[in-house]
Amino acid sequence: MSDIYSAIKDDHDRHRELLKRIANTSGASDDRKQAWQEFYNDVKSHGAAEEETFYSKLISKTWGQDSARHSVHEHQQIDDLLEELRDMDMAEGAWLQKFKTLRHDYEHHIDEEEDEVFARAREVISEDEIEGYGARFLERKKEERKLIEQKREDSLED
Ligand SMILES: [Fe+2]
Ligand SMILES: [Fe+2]
Repeated sequence: MSDIYSAIKDDHDRHRELLKRIANTSGASDDRKQAWQEFYNDVKSHGAAEEETFYSKLISKTWGQDSARHSVHEHQQIDDLLEELRDMDMAEGAWLQKFKTLRHDYEHHIDEEEDEVFARAREVISEDEIEGYGARFLERKKEERKLIEQKREDSLED
């Protein structure tokens, strides 16, 4: 079993690796396409699961509210970049430029989660709850992964 902090941190480490891999590949190569697809799907389901299991708890307590709102706002900005990149041609220089922005912003986001947000969460989530939150996070993430395309279509219709 994995506690909520290790579950999130494991994902972040995988995302850092994927970002590095994407940056080290070129043009519209199969390697880049594959790493990008994995990054896109994993970050989307990770962010949604974080909001539903982790930030929803944090936001219920005054102590965590501002920090949770800040992070959820960043999720929206990251999501916008993910969608813009998805619609752009990977072989173009402009794609890599925007990807660099995404990498910078996303790395900042996850560093902040691991430092500031985790510290605040420890004030809100008790030690004996962290395994349960970890399990719910992983379960939710699995569900969210199946919903990515559906949610995307819904948001385009709005
Ligand atoms: Fe996040
Ligand atoms: Fe995260």
